[in-house]
Amino acid sequence: MAVPGPGYSITVRVEAPPSASAAGDLTSAVGSSGAVITAFDVVESHGDRIVVDITCNALSADHASEVTRILGELPGVRVRKVSDRTFLVHLGGKIEVSSRVALANRDDLSRAYTPGVARVCTAIAENPEDARRLTVKRNSVAVVTDGSAVLGLGNIGPAGALPVMEGKAALFKKFAGVNAWPVCLDTQDTEEIIRTVELIAPAYGGINLEDIAAPRCFEIEERLRERLDIPVFHDDQHGTAMVVLGALRNALRVVEKDTADCRIVVCGVGAAGSAIIRLLQRKSPADVIAVDKDGIVHRDRGDTDPNLRSIAETTNAEGRTGELADAVVGADVFIGVSAPNVLTAADVARMNERAVVFALANPDPEIDPMEARKHAEVVATGRSDFPNQINNVLAFPGFFRGLLDAHAHGITDDMMIAASNAIADVVSGEEQVNASFIVPSVFDSAVAPAVAEAVRRAVREVEPATGGGGSGLPWSMAEDAEF
Ligand SMILES: NC(=O)c1ccc[n+]([C@@H]2O[C@H](COP(=O)([O-])OP(=O)(O)OC[C@H]3O[C@@H](n4cnc5c(N)ncnc54)[C@H](O)[C@@H]3O)[C@@H](O)[C@H]2O)c1
Repeated sequence: MAVPGPGYSITVRVEAPPSASAAGDLTSAVGSSGAVITAFDVVESHGDRIVVDITCNALSADHASEVTRILGELPGVRVRKVSDRTFLVHLGGKIEVSSRVALANRDDLSRAYTPGVARVCTAIAENPEDARRLTVKRNSVAVVTDGSAVLGLGNIGPAGALPVMEGKAALFKKFAGVNAWPVCLDTQDTEEIIRTVELIAPAYGGINLEDIAAPRCFEIEERLRERLDIPVFHDDQHGTAMVVLGALRNALRVVEKDTADCRIVVCGVGAAGSAIIRLLQRKSPADVIAVDKDGIVHRDRGDTDPNLRSIAETTNAEGRTGELADAVVGADVFIGVSAPNVLTAADVARMNERAVVFALANPDPEIDPMEARKHAEVVATGRSDFPNQINNVLAFPGFFRGLLDAHAHGITDDMMIAASNAIADVVSGEEQVNASFIVPSVFDSAVAPAVAEAVRRAVREVEPATGGGGSGLPWSMAEDAEF
């Protein structure tokens, strides 16, 4: 199913004879290897040779090496160097700090720094809530990880996780103007993580926990929410749940079913699956059946893990037992956040008419989407090379934008439901929603503002007094500075 993509893009600089056929020989060689050329630039021309940069997308790192080898074996061709364009993007990191104020002269310095800054410090010390208006706290989120569950790579530690956290920070800025900073912790001890986040919290308006393994992630989030007066949010759980619920809202529009009538199978009861189930239950589906690597979750299974026990208590009204294949019989919706290739086309055929299948395991889904489509009416994956990509980028930037703007102190399910509805409703009604378009593009600039606005409204319903508020400071300014 893999196709050459920009994740494995290389630029190969070669010297070749200046003959009329040289360009054709080079491009044919790349084409025959299965790579896709995206640019061909002659960077030098001499009497006896030309120097060419050939940029192409490959299937994998090994495939990229193979392309280079094939080029080097052409008569008269010499490979000078190979650049991996993905590594080039990461050189020196992907984000930086920049000043929002002028520092051109002594006058500027006296206000931005000493002596002027001292009066602002004193004002905040007297009224700490003013830190949300007079400091970076107003617009800053810590992206905290212990590196224990990074992408599909597993437990690769804090340094290995840093490029992902930087990327997350870049997305926060790009899509919602939020200043997010990676905080990669050199510990995987629950108590140390909680205490460290507690200690750094004063500088941030929100905490985005990221790529922390289940079940540790549940306790860390729960206890930080109790201790901190800023929103704490584990994106692998709730970001996923919001986008999945938004996508499901539109998928059910396509198949003309109500959530209340749907039997929904959720395969995978880790970080993502647990949060999806809990948010789904706020919409009162007919039943939810949870399935993990040990089969259908039910009350008599003898699970000792508190998360699984609480899922067992609130799902599977019929008390079904067995495997995934047993769970999906007669189901309306399958949501997979588990492992590759655990669902077959025959399983999908045993679901209800007009079935919906979300196969979200990354990078390889629970079922090949082409197979799923044989029997399901709506199919979604986590992949960018198929329609209906379920991508957390649709949720977290706008969600935090709204929380920060409303000076939120916490997060409720209602805020998350509001965000998921907003994501769905960017795909406007009958004209746009169809089986291949249940979620907006991640590059749709309407998404983050719509999510932020829905969240601001939801926060104000539960925290009406927190949207700014004066402290009697000797100045006046707009409550909501623009970011
Ligand atoms: N937007 C998205 O597309 C999106 C978002 C979040 C997670 N995911 C994907 O979902 C998967 C799970 O993520 P997570 O963070 O919840 O992981 P996790 O490790 O916390 O949970 C994995 C769950 O899958 C279950 N599982 C494993 N093998 C299984 C099998 N053969 N059959 C049934 N269940 C099985 C495990 O028992 C566990 O409950 C990953 O592949 C992840 O990339 C996709």
